[in-house]
Amino acid sequence: MTTRAVVRSVGHYLPERVVPNVEFEASLDTSDEWIRARTGIERRHFAAEGESTSDLALAAALEALGNAGLAPNDLDAIILATSTADLIFPSAATMVQARLGMTRGFAFDVQAVCAGFVYALVSANALILSGQAQRVLVIGAETFSRIMDWTDRTTCVLFGDGAGAVVLEAAVGEGTAEDRGLLSSDLQSDGTLRDILYVDGGVSTQSSGFLRMQGKEVFRHAVDKLSRTAETSLARIGKVGADVDWIVPHQANLRIIKATAARMGVSMERVIVTVQDHGNTSAASIPLALSVGCASGRIKQGDLVVVEAIGGGLAWGSVVIRW
Ligand code: UT7
Repeated sequence: MTTRAVVRSVGHYLPERVVPNVEFEASLDTSDEWIRARTGIERRHFAAEGESTSDLALAAALEALGNAGLAPNDLDAIILATSTADLIFPSAATMVQARLGMTRGFAFDVQAVCAGFVYALVSANALILSGQAQRVLVIGAETFSRIMDWTDRTTCVLFGDGAGAVVLEAAVGEGTAEDRGLLSSDLQSDGTLRDILYVDGGVSTQSSGFLRMQGKEVFRHAVDKLSRTAETSLARIGKVGADVDWIVPHQANLRIIKATAARMGVSMERVIVTVQDHGNTSAASIPLALSVGCASGRIKQGDLVVVEAIGGGLAWGSVVIRW
């Protein structure tokens, strides 16, 4: 018998304001046609003035808890993946803890940019397997609209705001790849690649910054590293791409998603794609896509799901989950 961290429920929240590509045509030398053709993005949501990452996270958390039929104090921990927390401290996770009315357990943020949700899932799994927590709420929430340089057409058309959440809980499995729950994972980072995707400001440098990206370079690393990490995680449980029911990739660019799936030998009918509606929501993109995939009835109990992401650092990784 083996302890497994099983997905009990998912939820998500998107800010009300929807911004179609054409809105950028007024202020930038860009077009709906270019954005669709090069990225697959058609629209994205932007948080309202005064709406912060913890607001988005709270709404996603409430939906996930509601879908699980759980109260906040049924949780032992909250892990929130974000690079756009409301404040330098306290963590956005403890803000969500307070606003949920959760009066026990512990909460903390994880910062691994677009790979943040994958890192948070692996952290939650470790807490559950070590017996430190029975039930963990894992959230990905971002307001990347706040770190956009609105004069830079190579970045500001790509990102959006949103949040997604997953409740993981301990269950007993047989110890085989047929068990429900997180079955395997792979995490990687390479800090020497910091200059191709970063924010040019921060607390210690006493400046507030904007996201900077060498898109072509990141693209090249993304396809290679994402397919490799997914295959590594699958190999750890004796599986290959052909065994996968759903790839739920980080939603940065439809061309990256297609190229990665093709390398893994997985057809696009088995890939959850939300980039057209959400743009790149960084750490929120995978839980958003998981929630959309479940709500649409595609991801079902027993399915073999692979999540994979890459972002600033570079940091990347993947997790294989029997849903
Ligand atoms: O979430 C973290 C991970 N991030 C990613 O995975 C992003 C990875 N990168 C990408 O998705 C793509 O590289 C981009 C979407 C960022 C760019 O697409 P690309 O096909 O690599 O285009 P490019 O950078 O090679 O640019 C092609 C042309 C350039 O013009 P010239 O030099 O050929 O005259 C750009 O200046 O397209 C131009 N361009 C634009 N044109 C209209 C760049 N952005 C725009 C724009 N509208 N918004």
